[in-house]
Amino acid sequence: LSLEENMLRSEMGEVQGIPVTKPTCDIWDQVWNFKARPDDLLVATYAKAGTTWTQEIVDMIQQNGDIEKCRRASTYKRHPFLEWYIPDSSPLGYSGLKLAEAMPSPRTMKTHLPVQLVPPSFWEQNCKIIYVARNAKDNLVSYYHFHRMNKVLPDPGTIEEFTEKFMNGEVLWGSWYDHVKGWWKAKDKHRILYLFYEDMKENPKREIQKIMKFLEKDLDEEVLNKIIYNTSFEIMKDNPMTNYTKDFVGVMDHSVSPFMRKGSVGDWKNYFTVALNKKFDQDYKKKMADTSLVFRMEL
Ligand code: A3P
Repeated sequence: LSLEENMLRSEMGEVQGIPVTKPTCDIWDQVWNFKARPDDLLVATYAKAGTTWTQEIVDMIQQNGDIEKCRRASTYKRHPFLEWYIPDSSPLGYSGLKLAEAMPSPRTMKTHLPVQLVPPSFWEQNCKIIYVARNAKDNLVSYYHFHRMNKVLPDPGTIEEFTEKFMNGEVLWGSWYDHVKGWWKAKDKHRILYLFYEDMKENPKREIQKIMKFLEKDLDEEVLNKIIYNTSFEIMKDNPMTNYTKDFVGVMDHSVSPFMRKGSVGDWKNYFTVALNKKFDQDYKKKMADTSLVFRMEL
């Protein structure tokens, strides 16, 4: 690796057994002590489950379908990414905490933290949380390509090698299995709207309406249709405020794999060999035996 690349690639650390970047590890006390406000909204996901998509839907609803307002800044700046931290000494300096603290209410924030690592003030303040889950295989394939194009993340190796790490939870933000199960359990005790990427793909109108209801927003049919259109994969792929081409320049290499890559359900079939699929399924059955949570791997 070049010196430049070495500087970019964050070392990994751990918080309570969950892999996070070293800088996040260094500021963990501040993350944990974050002061949520009662009208905060948190969008929580395992990485690559459809966070950006959901964030855009939420913003469009909050802005009553006003496209210009939604283009005021990139996703990354509109919604502070709570635990993400890159020191100011880097040209990519970013502090989700600082951004959030400076932001007037009502705030919407993003996190990839597993439920047990969410700062306690979110529960104390009874904040609304939208959680989006995506089937393991598509989530894995998306994460694999993201590791290829994002130089901050470790080289994923082959799909077989990456799958091994994914199954062992040896990836940033830890085990997908524990993440989706943990949040699934939490939804019965807190104000959590638990959504699925597959449902959003199948019927965006229905799922956007669910989000509207959760946010207590009533928008007319025309605005709703505008939101459906502007949050479609094709439109978001061309929107510089949502496609990440304006953020992390020099870190994300969209020529390797664009951030807005495929946006579909079932793409894993193009990457999983029969052998890999069999191995994955056997392990999946064991890891998901203790939950009522069911995913659709295709539509
Ligand atoms: P793929 O790599 O499978 O294409 P996140 O925002 O959590 O990082 O998730 C990124 C994934 O969501 C990528 O998946 C990306 O293409 C997909 N995505 C982003 N916007 C989308 C949209 N409007 N509709 C469907 N998928 C979308």
